[in-house]
Amino acid sequence: MGYNNSTKFAFVKKCFFDSGLTVFYMKISSSQMFRNLSKWYLSALMLLFLAGTFNSQAQGEGLFKAKCATCHQVFKDGTGPKLYEVRQKWADGGAAEGSIYQWVKNFEAAAAADPYAATVVAWSGTNMNKFPELSDDDITAIFDWVDSQVDGPKDGGGDVATVEGAVEEESSMGWVWMLLGVMFVVIILAVGGVRRQLKAATVEADGGEYNDDMSYMDEIKQWAWDNRKKTVVGIVIIVLALIVTLFLSLYTIGTVEDYQPSQPIEFPHSVHAGINGIDCKYCHNSVTKSKSAGLPTVNVCMNCHKQVSGSTPEQQAQINKIYEAAGWNPEGAGKYTGETKEIVWNKVHVLPDHVYFNHSQHVEVGGIDCKQCHGDMTKMVGTAKVQPVSELNKIEGNIQLTKTTLTMGWCIECHSEKEISQGPLDSKKDGYYDEIHRRLMNNDKSLYGEYLEDGKVTVKELGGWECAKCHY
Ligand code: HEC
Ligand code: HEC
Ligand code: HEC
Ligand code: HEC
Ligand code: HEC
Ligand code: HEC
Repeated sequence: MGYNNSTKFAFVKKCFFDSGLTVFYMKISSSQMFRNLSKWYLSALMLLFLAGTFNSQAQGEGLFKAKCATCHQVFKDGTGPKLYEVRQKWADGGAAEGSIYQWVKNFEAAAAADPYAATVVAWSGTNMNKFPELSDDDITAIFDWVDSQVDGPKDGGGDVATVEGAVEEESSMGWVWMLLGVMFVVIILAVGGVRRQLKAATVEADGGEYNDDMSYMDEIKQWAWDNRKKTVVGIVIIVLALIVTLFLSLYTIGTVEDYQPSQPIEFPHSVHAGINGIDCKYCHNSVTKSKSAGLPTVNVCMNCHKQVSGSTPEQQAQINKIYEAAGWNPEGAGKYTGETKEIVWNKVHVLPDHVYFNHSQHVEVGGIDCKQCHGDMTKMVGTAKVQPVSELNKIEGNIQLTKTTLTMGWCIECHSEKEISQGPLDSKKDGYYDEIHRRLMNNDKSLYGEYLEDGKVTVKELGGWECAKCHY
């Protein structure tokens, strides 16, 4: 069962309010202040809860774009009906409780069980896909995200992720955390300040003299010592919150999907790898042997373009740039001039320097097709670009992922899902995986347990989540 987000918000709002009021209570009596302390921790927990809410929104958006956006939009009918407030629509139409969740997982089963669902099947000749892998919480996250969209002139909602969209989401997350941080500091200062005044007042009322020499820091230390348990719990919560933030941000750091830099020559993959069926390895010839795939030199282009000079003026203009680079004069004697120029391609897929990624490990050992990570290059009409994960998910045979392409989350998600080919079927690797199993059993029982549970060895279970495997 998942909370509806609006109830979650109401709950969070109430708790913030309570903690705000707490500051006022404390002006009244110090004993009440300490009773209210438990509320402080409740509020701190709420902060984490709120963070979770935002996370689930992001998750809903990710899932929607990855799994539903091919057929559904938020506000417009497409291949499938619009999804805005569809839960309400089903409830109003007299659908059975929970039937819509079953629908998403398996529409046929839902239609068999619920007469309302059966009427929905008739909506169009196309059938919906089945998503048995989605949990009720996932589906709630999708619907919550859909319902939280605002109909606008530009954004029909649910279009494939745009660059602005990604940036906006990140900065709104930042805002939330900043706000939470400021509130925390204000609260702490308020507690300290009020307490000092109270203490001075009580001491003076008893006829004593309040020692004002005690610095604010000492006060805090004293207070922390007097409230050891609570302090420890508080610190643990703050540290956990920081770690969670760090990891959420690592999932999205510095990457822009759809990145398509301009190139010195308008090289179309569709013409070469597509129409002319040239193998990827003809041009990216180190892809199975080394870390990097490599780009072709101008000599590789010239193998063909000595003869192929282009049939339209546009093509000729582009192909002439190859000749310029190769120092080739197609007119006259058709001889090399000796004046060469380098073609400097702009890198499209860029990982930071501290990340180690190896092509041969994935393509040769892992047996992963280029399409999984780069999309179908044989259909790439323009120059190469980073494909958003929603596009990659549309390609047949790809594992469905949800995290932004080229982020750490993307690598890690695949590593936790992708099974490794192993065992006696593949005698080449036999000994290797025996050794891996032995190591799993000796080093990490829990990973071995995971392996035994589903009988699959994922990249993660072999250590594909270890920081040092990917980071220098
Ligand atoms: C391959 C296309 C396709 C995909 C992908 C898809 N749907 Fe559908 N969906 C449909 C079609 C088509 C219908 C209308 C029913 C019919 O004609 O069979 C539909 C109907 C629905 C309905 C009922 C709508 C109404 O107005 O009653 C819901 C809810 C729904 N889909 C949710 C989802 C969710 C959530 C996802 C993603 C996890 C998803 N769908 C993915 C095609 C798709
Ligand atoms: C005729 C040579 C040729 C063939 C065949 C070819 N490529 Fe390329 N590829 C290039 C050139 C030149 C570039 C650099 C220009 C660009 O980025 O658009 C490139 C760029 C790329 C890039 C982007 C590199 C970066 O900077 O991140 C990818 C990914 C890629 N190719 C994948 C493939 C795949 C997959 C195939 C096979 C389906 C393929 N290529 C076939 C020549 C080729
Ligand atoms: C598991 C995902 C994955 C697969 C599979 C994959 N690539 Fe890549 N590719 C990447 C990543 C990540 C980069 C960026 C590497 C970097 O910046 O260090 C990249 C970069 C490239 C580049 C730019 C030059 C370079 O070496 O950095 C080319 C060209 C390329 N890939 C071609 C291919 C071809 C051709 C195939 C299939 C034979 C392929 N890739 C399969 C993930 C993949
Ligand atoms: C195996 C042969 C072959 C190789 C290698 C090759 N090309 Fe081509 N290229 C072709 C053919 C065939 C055409 C289509 C010409 C036509 O339609 O008249 C073409 C067309 C082109 C065009 C014009 C495309 C258009 O429609 O606008 C450009 C630009 C081009 N190639 C660049 C390159 C570059 C750069 C390289 C080296 C990285 C290269 N080619 C390597 C065979 C090749
Ligand atoms: C589509 C799935 C997929 C994606 C995306 C992917 N990997 Fe992998 N990765 C694999 C598979 C499968 C293997 C295991 C290959 C084998 O050894 O059989 C692997 C292995 C590795 C290993 C070796 C792990 C070990 O235990 O030796 C490293 C390092 C690695 N990947 C780094 C990366 C990085 C960095 C990225 C992101 C830029 C990435 N991978 C993205 C599927 C993926
Ligand atoms: C499967 C490969 C993989 C593993 C395992 C991995 N990372 Fe990463 N990490 C990446 C990639 C790829 C990036 C770059 C993401 C980007 O540029 O958006 C990254 C980025 C980072 C960054 C951000 C640095 C920056 O660019 O600002 C930090 C910090 C980091 N990783 C820490 C860790 C820690 C700690 C672990 C172990 C718990 C870990 N990573 C495990 C692939 C991996």
